Amino acid sequence: MIKMTEYEKRRKDLMNAIGANSIVILPAATEKMRNGDAHYAYRQHSDFYYLTGFAEPEAFMVLLPKRKEGEYLLFNRVHDRDREIWDGPRAGQEGAIKDYLADQAFPVSEFELALPELIVGRERIHYPMGYSAALDTSLTNAINKLRGKIRSGAQPPVALVDVASTLHEMRLFKSHTEIAAMQKAIDISQLSHMAAMQVCKPGMYEYQLEAELTYQFQKNGARFPAYNPIVGAGKNACVLHYVDNNCKIEDDSLVLIDAGAEYQYYAADITRTFPANGKFTAEQKAVYNVVLDSQKAAIKAAKPGAAWTVMQEAIVDVITEGLHELGILKGSLKELVATQAYFPFYMHRSGHWLGLDVHDVGSYQINNQWRKLEPGMVLTVEPGIYISSNIPGVPKRWHNIGVRIEDNILITENGCDVLSKDIPKEVADIEALMKHS
Ligand code: GLY
Ligand code: MN
Ligand code: MN
Repeated sequence: MIKMTEYEKRRKDLMNAIGANSIVILPAATEKMRNGDAHYAYRQHSDFYYLTGFAEPEAFMVLLPKRKEGEYLLFNRVHDRDREIWDGPRAGQEGAIKDYLADQAFPVSEFELALPELIVGRERIHYPMGYSAALDTSLTNAINKLRGKIRSGAQPPVALVDVASTLHEMRLFKSHTEIAAMQKAIDISQLSHMAAMQVCKPGMYEYQLEAELTYQFQKNGARFPAYNPIVGAGKNACVLHYVDNNCKIEDDSLVLIDAGAEYQYYAADITRTFPANGKFTAEQKAVYNVVLDSQKAAIKAAKPGAAWTVMQEAIVDVITEGLHELGILKGSLKELVATQAYFPFYMHRSGHWLGLDVHDVGSYQINNQWRKLEPGMVLTVEPGIYISSNIPGVPKRWHNIGVRIEDNILITENGCDVLSKDIPKEVADIEALMKHS
């Protein structure tokens, strides 16, 4: 469990980064209706959670560096006996101070009225630009109110700054406690993937494999997946973000599972591909091994100082060469690379940052240059080959083979650690695991 003092340190770091003449304002995520009066499961916004550890909706966090009466203000829900009978307890203002280390706490209904007083004399307002139309309006109203008081000496802010520029850079580098939470999310995901491989039988439905995954997630402490699990068999494995998960798994088909648990708000994002009946066909194995080799090459290239693109370059080389060797791509290898002939088969990038969000925040380029990898970054490496039957000129025996292999890696001082290395990915190891079921 991440301690409240770690959240406090993050707030201090952010205040140091933005300077004393600034203010930070973050809204909590809003509740979303599913239909009628039934909500989607509530999940706090990752930025808000990263700085507060506070999971309730209807709240605003305000940071006012160097303010005498206190730097960290929380505007949150008041106690409401009736609502708390139906929905459960709320922290209230005393809880915000005692349990969440706020210097001051106020009812959320007072936020709008307090805004002009909070921002007056602060040059810059750091907030999530474009996230909440309601907050945009409140800020504009507050600034206009202060403009009306300029002759009495009021100094309205002069700049609105996207908080992403500082906050997301902080979130990109994971602390030891964050890495421990991510490892736990990954460990739960690993045993869930292995359980799914072991129970898989031709004739099952994709959602039945999904049930095994989500059962294992919850049984092992992860209440929710980090994103909608993808369980695609046969042609569905060729659909990158397939989430219908409602088809029968045919004998001789490949099954692609892309699923990760969320543990204490941190995401895992792992993909494995395996044969429904426990034994790869010659064609499946050939394609699978090209993807595996490309993933190994990318992981080998991932080290401090290497540009973000080294992984994609390694993958593209191996996949192009592999598809050429299999006779799926024809022509000179050099020309195939130059013309991006791999693209109909591999149409995405090598991966993404991973953290509180599955596609985590943090920039990929700095000053129009791909950024270099640094220790503490966590990312996915997820090459794939997808041979859907509508790609012209590919012999039928290759059709509907879809393979992706996705691991989560941590950049270290000397290279990288594969955090999800315990799920088998060699052909022989997958076949052995499935045999013992
Ligand atoms: N699960 C989504 C992705 O792999 O990026
Ligand atoms: Mn994934
Ligand atoms: Mn991913």
